[in-house]
Amino acid sequence: MTAARENHREAVAGRSDVEDTAELLAYYDDLERLKAGALWTIANKIEPWEPVSRYSPVLWPYKEMRGHVLRAIDLVTPEKAGRRVIYLNNPGAGDRAACVGGIYSGLQVMKAGETASAHAHSTSAMRFIMEGKGAYTIVDGHKMTLGANDLVLTPNGTWHEHGIDPNGTTCIWQDCLDIPLVNSLEANFYAVHPDLHQKVGYPVDDTKYTFGAPGLQPQVAWDKRYSPLYKYEWGPTYEALVKYSKVTAGSPYDGILMNYVNPLNNGPVMLTLGASMQLLRPGEKTKAHRHTGNVIYQVAKGSGTSIINGKRFDWQEKDIFCVPAWMFHEHANGSASDDACLFAFNDFPVMNALGLYREEAYGDNGGHQKIEA
Ligand SMILES: [Fe+2]
Ligand SMILES: [Fe+2]
Repeated sequence: MTAARENHREAVAGRSDVEDTAELLAYYDDLERLKAGALWTIANKIEPWEPVSRYSPVLWPYKEMRGHVLRAIDLVTPEKAGRRVIYLNNPGAGDRAACVGGIYSGLQVMKAGETASAHAHSTSAMRFIMEGKGAYTIVDGHKMTLGANDLVLTPNGTWHEHGIDPNGTTCIWQDCLDIPLVNSLEANFYAVHPDLHQKVGYPVDDTKYTFGAPGLQPQVAWDKRYSPLYKYEWGPTYEALVKYSKVTAGSPYDGILMNYVNPLNNGPVMLTLGASMQLLRPGEKTKAHRHTGNVIYQVAKGSGTSIINGKRFDWQEKDIFCVPAWMFHEHANGSASDDACLFAFNDFPVMNALGLYREEAYGDNGGHQKIEA
């Protein structure tokens, strides 16, 4: 009935502010029967002054998550589950299965000797290894061996599969995919490999040996729109951050930050998802800023605190937390003697490609948010 009809009015010049009348309400009813509506009743809702995220900042403590992730080993097999994953479900996600924004994330666990079947999908995926030995991923015939804090890509459309060497140990890693984004675009296809597993067609770790030298480009043809370097190892990443920290003041908002890039064009590793690793020096406390785009952090090293939208989150190694779009955030290394590293997945490539990236510093209080009690 007309009494419950939405009308989002704002008494501001340039915004819609139309009073309901009996005549208008009858008009709205007529439009609704035609599956149409008067824009001025909802314009202020669908075009807010600035982004209002439906997602909350959330921290998933690894100490508590880990036991439940390991429980899944006895409860389901990878054969039956397809992928044995516990997904991170933001309270604002509804039925989208989103960790934050257009990004899905989950913790996958496999034990020694297990293999998961090869598949391909329209979504782009990355995984950041949390613990265990002997994990590997095969992408279009390229096999990558993986250790803790390594990043591996499984770009959209590639055949990929995961497994643990029989001599390895139980492994846990964090998956990150653009599932909510691709589903909102209604462009998501999925295929299981006809043979369930693919053949390894190249020397193990060949992409690292081909594309892994900074500042040097091998003479090879590559026409894909994602990085040909499928694996980014922790050792050289950390070393690069430590070296860079010796010669830069860093960013007031991020400390020392390196983006993982496609070595052929220095662009993001994939079209929709980006990744970065940042180092906070001992005692470093960043200033607050906010930007469009969504970020999921995983603590790669150390411990500290982040303030997100005025809420305090204390983190330790392997904890995961998210920063929803346009929420102020600042980070502090909790140690006066050791550095801390934050790995991050983000959707900045989408923001940049579509011209939607925007950033703003927190101006008050010396750049630091007031913390909610
Ligand atoms: Fe996949
Ligand atoms: Fe940021």
